[in-house]
Amino acid sequence: MAEKSDLMDKIVSLCKRRGFVFPGSEIYGGMANSWDYGPLGVELKNNIKQAWWKRFVQQRDDMVGIDAALIMNPKVWQASGHLANFTDPLVECKKCHSRFRADNIDTMAACQSCGEKLGFTEAKMFNLMFKTFIGPAEEQTNVAYFRPETAQAMFVDFKNVLDTSRKQLPFGIAQQGKAFRNEITPGNFIFRTREFEQMEIEYFIRPPQKDEDWNEFFEHWRAEMKAWITEVLGLKWEHIHELEVPKDELAHYSKRTIDFEYHFPFGVSELYGLAYRTDFDLKNHSEASGQKLEYMDPQTNEKFIPHCIEPTWGVDRSVLAVLCEAFDDSNPENVVLHLPAKLAPYKVAVFPLLKNKEQLVAKARSIYAELRKHFTVAWDDRGNVGKRYYSQDEIGTPFCITVDFDTIEKDGTVTVRDRDTKEQPRVKVEDLVAYLSQKLA
Ligand code: GAP
Repeated sequence: MAEKSDLMDKIVSLCKRRGFVFPGSEIYGGMANSWDYGPLGVELKNNIKQAWWKRFVQQRDDMVGIDAALIMNPKVWQASGHLANFTDPLVECKKCHSRFRADNIDTMAACQSCGEKLGFTEAKMFNLMFKTFIGPAEEQTNVAYFRPETAQAMFVDFKNVLDTSRKQLPFGIAQQGKAFRNEITPGNFIFRTREFEQMEIEYFIRPPQKDEDWNEFFEHWRAEMKAWITEVLGLKWEHIHELEVPKDELAHYSKRTIDFEYHFPFGVSELYGLAYRTDFDLKNHSEASGQKLEYMDPQTNEKFIPHCIEPTWGVDRSVLAVLCEAFDDSNPENVVLHLPAKLAPYKVAVFPLLKNKEQLVAKARSIYAELRKHFTVAWDDRGNVGKRYYSQDEIGTPFCITVDFDTIEKDGTVTVRDRDTKEQPRVKVEDLVAYLSQKLA
């Protein structure tokens, strides 16, 4: 990871230049803190989401997934406590009226916006829920909210999932999708935005008799999150800080929370969270809906409301952390994104050595067409091969294949250049799929 103070600027610039992330609505002057994923960004993001789904849903016997509506019945947010408690303290500069999160600024210092020291208003609590109206009439009775977390659908759908999947405790419900928060101070690129994606699991367990009972599952998920961070995202563990959230700062539903913080270029900040939500949510939804959100033990026929451990991952923060970790400009002429191969937007790029030699181009085109059945593949015939390597390094493509005269006139091999080792072994064209599959496994 590069250690420069302007690292964020370089990453933002690379993201724009190469099509990872663009400013949202840019042709209209943009919209503050809104970002669009471009062709390469969507591949990277999807690769992260697919790796997560495979690891935590597909490969686990104790997990099922859902994909719920973004706008839920407003009673959900009443029962979950979000309408009452999902707030941040807001202060306003007395001079320029810019608004800030009181817990993020020194209210004795000058305003970050106008530089004046006239002071700030008293902090008042600001609810982060995004409001909208259902139907044509903008009346209080038609108010609804975009979900501020994906989690609530796992509680609200608990009974339907249980009845249809017949899972036995302990088991989890997983979901990926958008969440919306009217953040007072979004910023730091895609780190804090008002519209973002989460990947969340609500993992249900028997009501614990003693602390060790829930702690065992809490520690299981803590280890799973560590493995995900290091093995899948490729982040160095020394770039992570586990923060035990102090009791007086816990979210309204949590008995214990650990934040996994990452050393982002702008400071150590939250990447993911792990919380013990007790039976808070299922109990509240049972009471508010009048539906029994219970589990019946198949052996004893005993009925009870399960407790819940919640590991939660931000998708956009995953993308940002991966980019920060992978970015290497130690040679400014040859910037490299050392992305884990599984996450790279393109797995391989194919080039003809010379673009004006028909035979080379035809052979390269046929290899390109064949490889696309198996991998995401880039085609490049601009400039010289050296420049094409640099261009692929900058977007993290693990392998580049060059078709040259030996390919067509001599031995039917191509060079396969490795992004990280820079080695260029020759591989037979018919062995390419097997060779790359093994390298990318
Ligand atoms: N269901 C629990 C929950 O939502 P959270 O800590 O508020 O907990 C979970 O959010 C994760 O969602 C965070 O760890 C972070 O990765 C991501 N996240 C939260 N707010 C975000 C925002 N404004 N922009 C981008 N990601 C955000």
